[in-house]
Amino acid sequence: MYATEFLDLPPLQTAAGLVRLPGSKSISNRVLLLAGLCEGTTLVHDLLDSDDTRVMLEALRTLGCGLEREGEALRVTGLGARLKTNEAKLFLGNAGTAMRPLTAALAVLAATQGGRFELSGVPRMHERPIGDLVDALRQLGCTVDYLGQDGYPPLRLSAGALRTDAPIRVRGDVSSQFLTALLLALPLVAQGNDIVIEVDGELISKPYVEITLNLLARFGIAVRREGWQRFTIPRGSAYRSPGSIHVEGDASSASYFIALGAIAAPDAPVRIEGVGSDSIQGDIRFVEAAQAMGADVTSGPGWLEVKRGRFPLQAITLDCNHIPDAAMTLAVMALFAKGTTRLTNIASWRVKETDRIAAMAAELRKLGATVEEGPDVIAVTPPERTLPAAIRTYDDHRIAMCFSLAAFAGAPVRILDPKCVGKTFPEYFEALFGLVRTRMDDIPVITVDGPTASGKGTLASAVAKALGYHFLDSGAVYRATALTAMRQGVPGDDEAALARVAAGLDLHFVGGEAHLGAENVAEALRDEQVGLMASRVAAWPAVREALRQLQLGFRRVPGLVADGRDMGTVIFPAADFKVFLTASAATRAQRRYKQLISKGIPASIDDLRADLEARDARDSNRSVAPLKPAPEALLLDNSALSVEASMALVLEAWEQRRPFASARGR
Ligand code: DC
Repeated sequence: MYATEFLDLPPLQTAAGLVRLPGSKSISNRVLLLAGLCEGTTLVHDLLDSDDTRVMLEALRTLGCGLEREGEALRVTGLGARLKTNEAKLFLGNAGTAMRPLTAALAVLAATQGGRFELSGVPRMHERPIGDLVDALRQLGCTVDYLGQDGYPPLRLSAGALRTDAPIRVRGDVSSQFLTALLLALPLVAQGNDIVIEVDGELISKPYVEITLNLLARFGIAVRREGWQRFTIPRGSAYRSPGSIHVEGDASSASYFIALGAIAAPDAPVRIEGVGSDSIQGDIRFVEAAQAMGADVTSGPGWLEVKRGRFPLQAITLDCNHIPDAAMTLAVMALFAKGTTRLTNIASWRVKETDRIAAMAAELRKLGATVEEGPDVIAVTPPERTLPAAIRTYDDHRIAMCFSLAAFAGAPVRILDPKCVGKTFPEYFEALFGLVRTRMDDIPVITVDGPTASGKGTLASAVAKALGYHFLDSGAVYRATALTAMRQGVPGDDEAALARVAAGLDLHFVGGEAHLGAENVAEALRDEQVGLMASRVAAWPAVREALRQLQLGFRRVPGLVADGRDMGTVIFPAADFKVFLTASAATRAQRRYKQLISKGIPASIDDLRADLEARDARDSNRSVAPLKPAPEALLLDNSALSVEASMALVLEAWEQRRPFASARGR
């Protein structure tokens, strides 16, 4: 997951390959609750691992459910409809799929078995309405108190006297989750008589209620439904574990990759695995909307394949009540359409993770789009030319994910707070980067060159980390060549043999550590003898040429920070930003000395300094790619600077070169 302050996406061009979707949030949290309430154990496969499921799991653990990993699956031991703890405070983050059903389930359990539960969340959760559900629960005889503002969490649930003989009325036009919550909870108390729920107003997001009914059926509850107005939980209903259950991939998450296939220049198709034609999720119908805009989609059970069809896309007008979450992706696809795309009947956007109509409008406008918004509608007309923009994400995973696609409109896009995707798809950007390609020149490169022990590696890797960019330690490339040559007994003066070693190098980095084949050589490369040999090896033109392609290959989306001697002069001469880092020989010898001593390796400062100076001389005086600053490089002497201070300077200078000025003062 990218936990950086922002993530800059370069302009993107093509996409192809396979993505496996994480499990559906809606299914995961419903299954967890049902498995947690029913008798016995349920083995849950392919559960989503995200912020929202984590809070549900934490709540179930607090309530006394058993949760054990079993290989890739999770074994849940349920409460069997009997409270194990009668008092608990549950923190539910910003997970509506945890807050609403747990409120209903614990309200009826507290009413019948006694108890006192407090449910709270992040500040935004305390702005998301729950009054309609509370009203319904109070009709039932549950005791529910608002601990903050009336109509919103946090809530306290305590003992009451339940009456289930009269129909319970619940509003269906603000959020379908209120109905879902009652449907999931009321089988707990359906022993004596049928329980009837009547929906007031037009029920929105019906497909989510279908998921609920479908999963209730898997747990042995056959709800009778009359239209979308009246639901009956038959007398004698009791949850029965299905034994094991599989969570299908998230159809809302699929929407980003369906859109990707539709807008990226045709290469090979984008193949999506985890959901397909047999999905029980309503958002699978996003496929039809994408097809209407021009996507070329084929599908089968558990998979979809998407290619560009008509392009530019066709603007559409669509009632999106049936695909409220995935419809946000259509608003970004509108950037690639001719004309105005109108999405209607989307009032529920206003009470989601953020006010999504306002947020989408504000961010699309930053890209240059013309946007009209109404209480339950948004209309998007693309600009002539998309502008680079820093997209605010409002702690809303879907805003971050759908706006990443705007990078295909020709300009770079900055996604602020990219970790918000953790709510449903922690590895979203990694999955995206696994599929997309772009022009080499569009992928930003920052070079940090300098003499040995100048601290360039530390600085460059810290900058890479802060930006979410790849990192190339080119010294390691020469050191790996030297190490291999030493092991094979190739002498430092046999240019041709050394070049063959370089060309055959199987060097790759795993979590920042250098590997030769399967062997982790991170430690071996730091050896002083290897460093000295590297400096000799690096003087041969044929060796440098053989290592060039390997180094160029590190330039991948979203960007690269490369450190070495000739990153800015020879390997990436057109780098977007070049830094030349120095420190006095005395400072550098001191640093190296401390490093060695801390590792228990004996050393002498004077010898180290002499070695450094000899290497500096060789690196600077060799005929090919000598160590010298590129003319336009930022010269930084860090003798008296901390790593943090150097990093702040470099990041600030980088920011000046970026086109995202509007990000300031956000
Ligand atoms: O940065 P370092 O000490 O790990 O580098 C080891 C040797 O590799 C160094 O003495 C010079 C050589 N080198 C090079 O010639 N060009 C680079 N881009 C990086 C390192």
